[in-house]
Amino acid sequence: MAMKHLSRTYAPHAGAVEGAPVATRRLRDLAGVFADSAAYQAACAAGDPVIYTVASVEPADGDGQIHYGLGTLMPGMIGDEYYCTRGHLHAWRPAAEVYIGLSGVGAMLLEDERSGESWLEPLGADRIVYVPGFTAHRTVNTGDVPLVYLGIYPAAAGHDYAAIAARNFRALVVARDGRPTLVQRAGDGTAAAGRAQEHHHV
Ligand SMILES: [Fe+2]
Repeated sequence: MAMKHLSRTYAPHAGAVEGAPVATRRLRDLAGVFADSAAYQAACAAGDPVIYTVASVEPADGDGQIHYGLGTLMPGMIGDEYYCTRGHLHAWRPAAEVYIGLSGVGAMLLEDERSGESWLEPLGADRIVYVPGFTAHRTVNTGDVPLVYLGIYPAAAGHDYAAIAARNFRALVVARDGRPTLVQRAGDGTAAAGRAQEHHHV
């Protein structure tokens, strides 16, 4: 049988896909992401842990092509905020994406760029999330084991990190009474205490 090497082995618990380069994001790479800057600086000084890795497979570029990545987001907290990815919009704004949860428990923080609306969608071992176009997306680990997922997206989507870097997401996910809770971000970047919305699905 002729082999074209389109099939790859992968090891979800090692965050690895055969032949795929792995990008590693440590806490220091996520400056400006977490609301509690004192807790952020302390955790950087205490060892700058790996927060997540992404093994990316980009077989071909151009219209109609697809890329995918295996993401592994570690469990942990900065202050009362759960570990999360940097998050992004797609450079080609209409491009949608599918996230397939493989293990762990968490959520995707979504933000509609046009309306500004923020909300959470559960992502975990038994969850698939469809991310529409024009929607900023950040992955959040609300459990105590790595959250592993596949993201599958148009090759032409591109990643726009600059928009998020400029103003961060409007909401963040914190533990309130031990439960993941979506809160709005205050003007100074911290979690706004008075506007918590309980979120019972994650
Ligand atoms: Fe994406």
